Amino acid sequence: KGDPRLQAISQAIRVIPHFPKQGIMFQDITTLLLNHKAFKDTVDIFVDRYRDMGISVVAGIEARGFMFGPSIALAIGAKFIPLRKPGKLPGEVISQAYELEYGTDCLEMHVGAVLPGERTVVIDDLVATGGTLSAAINLLERMEAEVVECACVIGLSDLKGKRKLHGKPLYILVEPR
Ligand code: PRP
Repeated sequence: KGDPRLQAISQAIRVIPHFPKQGIMFQDITTLLLNHKAFKDTVDIFVDRYRDMGISVVAGIEARGFMFGPSIALAIGAKFIPLRKPGKLPGEVISQAYELEYGTDCLEMHVGAVLPGERTVVIDDLVATGGTLSAAINLLERMEAEVVECACVIGLSDLKGKRKLHGKPLYILVEPR
């Protein structure tokens, strides 16, 4: 915070009211990806934070965690692990269900993608309830990875979902607009 790049990053995110349904203010990061400076600054802020923390794994959450995670992984010398919606990964997987507003969803990870004790950061574009990040932490911890932190571009700083993050720190760049 106090970083002059953050305001431009926030402004590069387009807000689309009532998408995908009435009452939702959709935080559209595709306009951030169109803005080279803001996109690069976003990745650079995460890279500067994680480069000297002994991180060997960046795990990205489908779909929009895939738009930031690999760039961060390459820059810090870590591997990238995709955490995917059910039925997408071809190898042996472990699955973790999580609660949605209505019903449940599920994330999957390839068995063998992470080794016990590997220091891992989980990346996504946005945290709302924290349910998705919580499922990601569960998957990684079931494989005995050490989840160091979760990082999102957008989230509420006084997030209620923090309770669900198993005491793991949550690093957020900007608030939703
Ligand atoms: C959005 C967002 C996060 C998740 C956050 O993904 O990209 O992954 O919701 O919500 P939560 O904190 O309440 O769990 P979405 O479910 O829209 O999936 P998509 O990126 O594949 O479209």
